[in-house]
Amino acid sequence: KVYDCTMIELDKHHSDRKGNITVVENNDTIPFGIKRTYYLYDVPGGESRGGHAHKELSQLIIAASGSFTVTLDDGNVKRTFLLNRPYQGLYIVPGIWRTLDDFSSGAVCLVLASHGYDEKDYIRDYHKFIEYKNDGEITF
Ligand code: TYD
Repeated sequence: KVYDCTMIELDKHHSDRKGNITVVENNDTIPFGIKRTYYLYDVPGGESRGGHAHKELSQLIIAASGSFTVTLDDGNVKRTFLLNRPYQGLYIVPGIWRTLDDFSSGAVCLVLASHGYDEKDYIRDYHKFIEYKNDGEITF
């Protein structure tokens, strides 16, 4: 459900005149262990990323630099988050359709993921996603 996805305020360790450090630790800061990290960058203005759901994968998405929006959709409820702080992470549970838009120039979208890459974990067709969500689930 979209309401299970939350913005997590991450620690920000500040050193006077020397900048900041933000730390994410397995099963502590976030409710899963990180198996894979990847990052999106050089996304041209106006381009959209995502446009899929995952069956098992949990993720934390961070705007390590710049900003972008993430729209989450569980088939019932849609919610859009603006990510523009390196010390905030959007926690996304499995079974959520997500779309990333409005990348600023220089934006870096850091993704911490609970599993390795597996194309079989993706649902890339929105109608199949709705079928998957409705299969055995009462949605209204
Ligand atoms: P995809 O997850 O579809 O990108 P986005 O959601 O950002 O639009 O991934 C794009 C391509 O990158 C896809 O064809 C496969 C490849 N890829 C990997 O090989 N390993 C990975 O861990 C990821 C995330 C993507």
